Order: sequence, then C-alpha cells, then structure tokens
Amino acid sequence: MDKVRIFDTTLRDGEQAPGAALDSEGKLEIARQLVRLGVDIIEAGFPVSSPEDFRSVNLIGKEIKGATICGLSRCVQKDIDAVKDALLSAERKRIHLFIATSPIHMEFKLKKSPEDVLSIAIEAIKYARQFFDDIQFSPEDASRSEPEFLYRVIEEVIKAGATTINIPDTVGYAVPEQFANLIKGILDHVPNINKAIISVHCHNDLGLAVANSLAAVKAGARQVECTINGIGERAGNAAMEEIVMALKVRKDFYQVDTNVNTKEIIRASRLVSRLTGFVVAPNKAIVGKNAFRHESGIHQDGVLKYRQTYEIMAPEDVGLDKNELVLGKHSGRHALGERLRQLGFDLSNEELEQVFVEFKKLADKKKEVFDEDLIALVESTMRMDVEKWQLVGIEVSIPMDGLPNAKVILRHGKKEFSAESEGDGPVDACYKAIDKITGYPGVLLNYNIQAITSGKDALGEASITVDFGQERVINAHGSSTDVVEASVKAYVNAINKLGVKTAEKKKGV
Ligand code: KIV
Ligand code: ZN
Repeated sequence: MDKVRIFDTTLRDGEQAPGAALDSEGKLEIARQLVRLGVDIIEAGFPVSSPEDFRSVNLIGKEIKGATICGLSRCVQKDIDAVKDALLSAERKRIHLFIATSPIHMEFKLKKSPEDVLSIAIEAIKYARQFFDDIQFSPEDASRSEPEFLYRVIEEVIKAGATTINIPDTVGYAVPEQFANLIKGILDHVPNINKAIISVHCHNDLGLAVANSLAAVKAGARQVECTINGIGERAGNAAMEEIVMALKVRKDFYQVDTNVNTKEIIRASRLVSRLTGFVVAPNKAIVGKNAFRHESGIHQDGVLKYRQTYEIMAPEDVGLDKNELVLGKHSGRHALGERLRQLGFDLSNEELEQVFVEFKKLADKKKEVFDEDLIALVESTMRMDVEKWQLVGIEVSIPMDGLPNAKVILRHGKKEFSAESEGDGPVDACYKAIDKITGYPGVLLNYNIQAITSGKDALGEASITVDFGQERVINAHGSSTDVVEASVKAYVNAINKLGVKTAEKKKGV
C-alpha cells in the first residue's frame, strides 16, 4: 500500500499561532513525542527569524533521532545559511524553501515579476544543494497562483534539485474538488513530477484544511503537512490527528498508509495543549474530551449492545485508556508513573519520586485524584525553574463596603517579592499586585474559568489571554481548587511565557 508521509509543522507554523509561545525546552519535549508518534518529518522552526528559533532548531537537530528535521527558509542565502548551520549535526535533515507565486503576492508583497520569482527560486535551490540532498520547495499561495505559471515553476525547481514540492493553500481559500484538481493538474502537466513527492499544506480559514488535504491525497499527494490539534496561523493548519485517523478509518477509500502510531495521539494532543496554553474544545474531532462520549440513551444502549453501532473507531486506537485509573491515596508509584506517562510527562525516577511525595499529600486531601489534578501537581512541583516566576502565596480580603484587596508573594530565583493592590474584583486586585512586582502590566483580553473535575473539591481551570503590548499576546492557563489561585497561576504562567516571547521577536512569514 502507498505511504503518505506526515510532515509535522506544530513547532513552526503551529507556533506562529497568536498566543502560542514555546521555549526551546518545550519544543524539544514536543519533538520527542512527535518521534514516538512516528511522524516522518519535523519542521522544527525558521532559524533565521530569531536567535531563539535558531537555538531550538539546533537543539532538536542535535537531540532528535528517528525523524527528518527540517528548517524553513526564504529563497535568500542568509536564510539558507542559517538552516545549514542550525542543522549541522542533524542525523537526517531537510531545508524547506518558499517563495510566493500568486499574482497578488508577487505584485503587492514581493514587488517582483514572475520571471524574477522563478529565477530567485532556481538560484536558491542551486545554492541550497551544496548543503542539502533533501530539498522541499513551496510556491507560497499556490492555490491562488496561475496554474500554467505554477507548472513551470515546479518543473524548473525540480530540475534545479527540489525533491519535494509542497502545495500550500496559504490563505485557506481552496475547496476540496478544486484543490484535488490542482494536484491532478500538476501530475498531468509537469513532465518531471515523478522525480519529486507532492506535498500539501492547508490552512483552515474556511474550516476545510483537513478536507482539502484528504482530497489532495486522493488525487495523488503523498505528503501532508499538519499540526497537532490543528494549531497554526489564524484559524490554524490541518489537524494531524484528523488526517491520520481519516486515512486509517477510511483506508477502504484512500488506500494509503502512514507510519503514525495512532495510540500516541492523545498524549501528543495533551502535551501540545499544555505547553502552548491552547485548550482543546470538548467537541474537537479525535482529541476533544467528548469525542468518544455518548450521552443519548439510544446511543448508549446501541454501544453497549454492539460498539460499532455508534463508534467508527475505538478510543484505545488514539491512546485513550478504556480503563483509565482514578488515582487515590492507596495508589502507588507505578500507577502514578504510568498515568503521568499517558498524560505526556517523561519523568526520570528522581522526578517521579518528587511528584509522588506531593501526590500523597494531595490524595490525603482529595478522595479521587483526576488527570487535571496530576497535571497541576507536576507543573507546580517539577517545573520549578529558577529562571521563572513562581507563586508563593496570596491573601485576599473582600470588605462589605469597599474594594477587594490582594497581597501576592512571588519567587524569582531565590528571592521573594510581595506587593499589595486593590482591584475591581479579587482576581483584578491580584493581577494588579503582580504587575507591580514584575513590571509587565498586561491587558486581559479573555478570561474563562471552568470546573475540570467533579465534586465539591473540584479543580477549577482558568484560561486567559493577555496582551502585553508590542504584539505580545499570550495564552496561558492555571488550575487549583481555589479559582482565585487558579487565575493567579494562569497570569504567572503568562508572564513566564512572555519572557520567552520577549527574547524572541519574530520576523514572521
Ligand atoms: O502557509 C504557507 O504558505 C506556509 C509556507 C511557508 C509553506 O506556511
Ligand atoms: Zn502555513
């Protein structure tokens, strides 16, 4: 059966999503999970865009074995040099060159003629060939390019040495039939297309990224670019879990395979959600928390009688454990370690021991310890990075006839800092006190609080979006049994992410 390569761009296009800020350590953690998942190519970043991006691509190139590591580059020498330098010690490497080929981009963005664009692309590929055997070329905004010009560009870049031709629907404008026809057109009109693999890269502006990608596979594309949970620029990219499961569940129709171990999907989804701060919608296909839940009595009855009546795939296929353990005070290290592994944490024995001590304390207070409790626990015990701000404590008073007042204590390194402030509400008072300590006042764009476990001792999760000015919009979340504390933890997380973002002012694609 034909193979479709999975090219994951969570760490590049996914990380371009407004509010997603990943540091090198987080990117490395995701890259490790992508290898477990079995993706073929990991686009690790855009090295020339910032020193932080260069460092991440370099680190992933050094550490990650078992997948091709790719760096993005415009068709200019300094970008190509940056990818070459960043991937110097990668086991398997690829460069991804792009230049726009649509009339609108060539005229208004690049201010270049089609002939100029063609020769810039050819020269860039020739230059890159000195350092790379594996060269991917993307005619940006391909779906709005003139087909005849597109065919010519593709033919010439293959002659120059491109081995993968990626067709981006950059602005999410395509619809499935038309996009499939574009792929067929390329196969029919580019004489040397058999020397390259056709890839597709679809954005989700009309909610069609996955449908367009699948239509392209049916038409002959053999690489799909996608991201975990579909994160990415604007409405995001094609969601990897949806593409992979559609190809698996409907193998009868698509007649292709991937190398993905689908049992690692949930773990990847949770890891990306936790590190980017993007909460997965409950109804999200494959990885949403309702994706395998049946509420209607008729459905429940059907599933109990014969699962396939209402389920087209088994929860275990994507890594959801049917017999998910609920941990409590009698649970041991082994059960805790196994559950944390399923939740996407890769802890050493020493780290597990540390978390186990805190777990026992929590289990004494709560009858049942849920996944969300565990995530919060690991984050507060394990990720005590001395470089970052940590919450030490809060004290809030709400007088009957005055404004709420908050005192907040934070730690940074070995030093503790405290400040007090009044506010419109207890959360506002805490945030203002934190602003006084850190000196990074932020404007709260979005604030959402929800109970994520059940019972009176339920854990509340605060999800926030904060604008720190200068295009620094950060998503973050925090959880606690106390909603004010959850909100404060979310704000402290946002400030820690801001540290990353500040050092990482991007040029953007
Ligand atoms: O959307 C796009 O066109 C891109 C290219 C760099 C492939 O992300
Ligand atoms: Zn893109």
